[in-house]
Amino acid sequence: MKILITGVAGFVGSNLAKSLLQRGHNVTGIDNLNYGFLRNIDAIKEDKNFQFFMGDIANPLILKDVKADIIIHLASQKIPRYTNALRTLEENYLMLRNVVHKCIMDKSKILFASTSDVYGKNPNVPFSENSDLVMGPTTVKRWAYALSKMYGEQYIIANHEEYGLNYTITRFFGSYGPNQNLTWWGGPQSVFIEKAFKKEAIDIHGDGLQTRTFTYVEDTVNALIACIENENSNNEIFNTGPKDNAEITIKDLAILIWKLVNGKDSEPKLNFIPYSTFGNYEDVMRRVPDITKLCSKLGFKPQWDLEQGLIETINWQKQFI
Ligand SMILES: NC(=O)c1ccc[n+]([C@@H]2O[C@H](COP(=O)([O-])OP(=O)(O)OC[C@H]3O[C@@H](n4cnc5c(N)ncnc54)[C@H](O)[C@@H]3O)[C@@H](O)[C@H]2O)c1
Repeated sequence: MKILITGVAGFVGSNLAKSLLQRGHNVTGIDNLNYGFLRNIDAIKEDKNFQFFMGDIANPLILKDVKADIIIHLASQKIPRYTNALRTLEENYLMLRNVVHKCIMDKSKILFASTSDVYGKNPNVPFSENSDLVMGPTTVKRWAYALSKMYGEQYIIANHEEYGLNYTITRFFGSYGPNQNLTWWGGPQSVFIEKAFKKEAIDIHGDGLQTRTFTYVEDTVNALIACIENENSNNEIFNTGPKDNAEITIKDLAILIWKLVNGKDSEPKLNFIPYSTFGNYEDVMRRVPDITKLCSKLGFKPQWDLEQGLIETINWQKQFI
């Protein structure tokens, strides 16, 4: 297949591009390198089936001369914890609009990367694809990300109804692994690993009892490949999460990472930061996916345990310390 990946130099995009090339697909990637890195696509840049363009997906002209059977739309702004909500809302909309129009014109499929954050504050875990999406007040800017992705999902489905757009939507639950962004942009595990290596206190937001599930990137990529190659994924939404829905508190994640880096007898240093430090901020207290649909409809089977995946990730991240 001819596959276009937006955000190819980012974490998921670079891992996905590598696997797709290994499977014999032709991959074109676009990235403006705002949050991605050329080093992430170093290993594939000479592949004859890979083309890279640097550019902004918010500019419709960037997509003009590319043709693909499917566009994997990964480029995105994320939770505006340290940036502004306006950019998240505007850029995510503009990029998606351009990609959707392109798909309709060329009769290509869109695979859209949504997020577990769309379930928001729904207390009823595990979340299935039909669960309610419960947002906090619009005065809390962190919800701008989830709202931009909810809007994106609804926009795609409306275009399916009006123009027959073929789509798959994946809601990722905390992916991690090689090529992850080394700041908070990449998720808590990136910064926890760095702090553990430096034997500095790990910053934990709130009391650390909020839970998450973490999906090793190979599992995330294999779920995406199933969505790309299996027609049962057409016009469906899939949660994309780890084996056994392994839920862990952020505090336990920090302790686990500390001990994997510094040895099991080492005493972790933890520093609890009150949410009030972030201004008008709200966190999600539990986040657990039900991935039955992905497994039963597409034959997907996640393989990686958290500890095993973290060891791989720590070994990769060591080079940057
Ligand atoms: N990684 C996760 O755990 C996770 C969880 C939930 C959802 N997601 C979603 O999955 C997708 C990929 O996530 P990721 O972790 O690889 O993110 P990432 O930030 O590492 O990669 C995204 C890439 O998109 C690029 N990009 C952003 N805006 C762009 C623009 N206007 N034009 C061109 N390129 C642009 C960035 O430079 C970056 O390389 C995103 O849509 C994200 O919202 C990821």
